[in-house]
Amino acid sequence: MDKIRIQGGKPLKGAVQVSGSKNAALPILVASLLSEGECVFKRVPSLEDIRTVLRVVEGLGMKVELALEQNRVRLRPSGSSTCEADYELVRKMRASVLVLGPLLARYGKAKVSLPGGCAIGTRPVNFHLVGLKKLGAQIELEQGYILAKASRLQGARVPFEFPSVGATEHLMMAASLAKGETVLENCAREPEIVDLADALRAMGAVIEGDGTETIRIQGRESLDGCEFEIMGDRIEAGTFLAAAVATRGDVTVEGLAPVHLEAVLAKLEEAGAQIERGRSSIRVVGRNRARGCDLTTQPFPGFPTDMQAQFMSIAAVADGTSAITETIFENRFMHVPELMRLGADIRLSGNTAIVRGVDALKGAPVMATDLRASASLVISGLCAEGETIVNRVYHLDRGYERMERKLAALGAQIERVK
Ligand code: UD1
Repeated sequence: MDKIRIQGGKPLKGAVQVSGSKNAALPILVASLLSEGECVFKRVPSLEDIRTVLRVVEGLGMKVELALEQNRVRLRPSGSSTCEADYELVRKMRASVLVLGPLLARYGKAKVSLPGGCAIGTRPVNFHLVGLKKLGAQIELEQGYILAKASRLQGARVPFEFPSVGATEHLMMAASLAKGETVLENCAREPEIVDLADALRAMGAVIEGDGTETIRIQGRESLDGCEFEIMGDRIEAGTFLAAAVATRGDVTVEGLAPVHLEAVLAKLEEAGAQIERGRSSIRVVGRNRARGCDLTTQPFPGFPTDMQAQFMSIAAVADGTSAITETIFENRFMHVPELMRLGADIRLSGNTAIVRGVDALKGAPVMATDLRASASLVISGLCAEGETIVNRVYHLDRGYERMERKLAALGAQIERVK
C-alpha cells in the first residue's frame, strides 16, 4: 500500500491550480442518469471516488467514455438500463446512494443498497427518504437495500429537518423530472448545490433559488444532454492555503471563486495570515507564526466541516490556544490521536478539541483514517521537524488529485513510496 514520505520544515511557496470539485462532480455525474441525451463534463477530477461513481452509473446502463487524464467524461444512455446499485459499490462511496432519486424519477423503480456508516459518523439517509416519499415514492427497506417505486413522482413541498447537502441534491435531481412544482425548504446552500443546479439547468431543468434556503423546481417530462464544466474545488484550495499558513509560506491558489471560501479566509486572517482575493485566485502569506483562534463548523456559509482537520494542523503550531468545535459529524476527530503522535497538545472535551499550540512538531509515522484527516496529517508533516510517513494514503487519493506532486511543486519535500 502506498505511503507518503515528508521531510518537514520548508515553507511552501508558489502558485497551484486547483482541480475540479469532487463534491460537485459526484452528484453531477449521477445527474446524467436523468438525461436522455449525451452529457459531456469537463474539469472532472481524476480521483478514486469519481471512478467509483462512474462504475455505479455504468452498472445502471450508462455508456461511459472516460478521458480522466484530460479530466473529461462523456456519458450517454446505452439503451439497456438496470435500476439496481449493489452494496459493494455503494459501500465504497456513500454518495452513490444519490442514484436512487434519479432512477425513480426516470424509470419508476430503484433498488439501492443502504450505504451504512463511515469513519466520521453514522450518516443516515433518512432525510433523503422522507423527501422522496413526499414526492410520492413508496419506499421499503429490505435486507440492507432501499426498494423504491412510483408511477410518476409528483411535485410537493419538502421541508428538510436539517440543511443536508446530500438530501438537497438528491431531491433537486428527483424533482427535476417530477410532475409539477416542488418547493424544497431549509435547503443546504453549499456552492456545490449551485453547481449541480447549473448542470441540471444545462440539461433543461427549471430550477430557481439554489444557494438560498428555498429551492423551487418545475418538473419536466424529460431532460436533454449537456456540456458542462465542474467548478473549482474549494476544499482542495483551502487545504493548500492551510498548508501555506502552517508552514509560514506564501501560496496562491488558482481556479476557484474566493467567495466559496470566505469563512475559511476570515479564520486565516484571524490567525494572522494576509489574504489577497483575486477574481479566481487567492494568495495567502503567513510569514509569522499563526495565532490560535476558535472555530465552530457550520453548514455553508459557515466554516466547513471539511476544513476542520486542516485548520487543526495550523492550531497545533500556533501561538496560543484554539477551541475547535465540530457540529456536523459526531466522530470527526480521528486525526487527533495521530496529530498527538507528532507532538501536538490536544484535549478532547465532547465535540470540542482544545488545541494548545506547541513551538514545533516532530516527524513520526502516522496513519490516515479518512479523507480530510489525511490532509491534516500531510500538513502537519510539512511543518514537523524531520521525517513523517503517512500510511494508508488511499484515503487521500479518494479526494485529492496528485496532491504530493502539487505540494512538491510548491517546494515541499514530499514523495510517494510504493
Ligand atoms: C456532504 C459532503 C461532505 C461534507 C458534508 C457536510 C459530498 C459528497 N460530501 O456530505 O464532504 O462533509 O456534505 O458539508 O458532497 N444527516 C442525517 N440524515 C440524512 C442526511 C444527513 O442525519 O438523511 C446528517 C449527517 O449524518 C450529518 C449531517 O446531517 O451529521 C450533514 O450531512 P450532509 O450535509 O447530508 O452531508 P453529506 O451530503 O453526506
